[in-house]
Amino acid sequence: MKTLLGIDLGTSATKTVLFDSELNVLASASAEYPLNQPHNGWAEQNPEDWWNAAVKTIGSVLQKSGIGAENIAAVGISGQMHGLVMMDGDGNVLRPSIIWCDQRTAAECADITERVGAERLVEITANPALTGFTASKIMWVKKHQPDVYAQCRHILLPKDYLRYKLTGDFATEVSDASGMQLLDVPARTWSGEVLDKLDIDPALLAKVYESPEVTGTVSGAASRATGLSVKTAVVGGAGDNAAAAVGMGVVTDGRAFTTIGTSGVVFAHTDDVTIDPDGRVHTFCCAVPGAWHVMGVTQAAGLSLKWFREQFCEDLTYDGITALADKVPIGARRLLYLPYLMGERTPHLDADCRGVFFGLSGMHTKADLLRAVLEGVSYSLRDCVEILRGMGVQTSEMLACGGGGTSAVWRQMLADLFACPVRTAVSSEGPALGAAILAGVGAGLFKSVPAACDSLLRYNDAQPPIAENAKAYEGYYAVYKSLYPALRENYRALAGV
Ligand code: XUL
Repeated sequence: MKTLLGIDLGTSATKTVLFDSELNVLASASAEYPLNQPHNGWAEQNPEDWWNAAVKTIGSVLQKSGIGAENIAAVGISGQMHGLVMMDGDGNVLRPSIIWCDQRTAAECADITERVGAERLVEITANPALTGFTASKIMWVKKHQPDVYAQCRHILLPKDYLRYKLTGDFATEVSDASGMQLLDVPARTWSGEVLDKLDIDPALLAKVYESPEVTGTVSGAASRATGLSVKTAVVGGAGDNAAAAVGMGVVTDGRAFTTIGTSGVVFAHTDDVTIDPDGRVHTFCCAVPGAWHVMGVTQAAGLSLKWFREQFCEDLTYDGITALADKVPIGARRLLYLPYLMGERTPHLDADCRGVFFGLSGMHTKADLLRAVLEGVSYSLRDCVEILRGMGVQTSEMLACGGGGTSAVWRQMLADLFACPVRTAVSSEGPALGAAILAGVGAGLFKSVPAACDSLLRYNDAQPPIAENAKAYEGYYAVYKSLYPALRENYRALAGV
């Protein structure tokens, strides 16, 4: 029996899933690790924790499934994007990884924009300089920790660090590399011009592959640590969003999905490069060779709810929370929440903004606050949809995924606010499934990414928008939209205190 292994290195946990060749789950395991926030707006993780989680979960799925490791045709990896892993010449990690939601690099972004030129930067990297992206993190280390930078010989993204531990190769692939701000996104190769202007040695970067290509095979040391067979192929894989797209079949024009994970994403596939000149949404290479995607990102989607639960209602399960919120009327009894706990990308591109409850009254209950959080995240995702539609990108067919996507209550909010039906894929494995499909293409089990998706993926019935709800949300969404511009200068002042 031929099987495929998908490993997804998330922000809160690594999930490893073993699939058969028809993409049925044979076994799955996940292992969590901490997110360290040493200062307001900083976010770091230890790459060793990621590797330990991978070792643990690979061992666990092999044991649970009883499948001999020699039956794994190939391994695919996906993961949180943008994180900076720096290694010395002996393969030692030099400092904790500065991850995607870290916001410390506003000054470095200004520097990058000045060196490359705002317009040129968008032309080449398809995005303006962003605090979340890897280039500004590299520039931060260069400036603030010159000793670390001097010892650095290899720069890797989180999932590519796992690849290095599995195969010993320094490799990446186009979808994740797009989020480094060093790739020529239309050309799908490193940009000599950007690297030169930022004075970053190209030798520090990994070799770039297309997502389904085999980048190496499992080494002896990794085989001893994980139980995988030596010489099992490892394919490029993809950034978590591009991998989720494959796992849900969003691999042709017109298809889109919304993730509510730690971050929230609205993602649409495009066969051609489509760039927002204002940079409010990202354009990245997608995991389908020769195609791209456009996506809007809200920084703290599931993170908002996780934060609220941990601080105020740890006794409630997520199902309990959504059931409670569902009893509260639309608008949370005139209470709005801005989900800017970690600054915001789409549409504000502002590292300084922070979360707000607006309209709090003595009558509000915990249930009202919870509903406001769910709605605030949904308003922020509607902001993303509006921009994509404004660019002419089709989002008429919407899938939902991520922890939040499993909630029928949250999905109904999306359907009502997006004014389109929202459905889920039968498999909820998202990025791990996408990584496994890419592995299947690399191993020759499937002809192409779209062919595998079309023949093997299945969907549940769609939840249509409810006209009455959509109408009720409009007034609240209008007030929500007006709050950020009114607060912009106050955010700046608070950050400067
Ligand atoms: C995408 C992004 C997040 C991370 C974490 O640009 O920053 O979606 O990949 O999941």
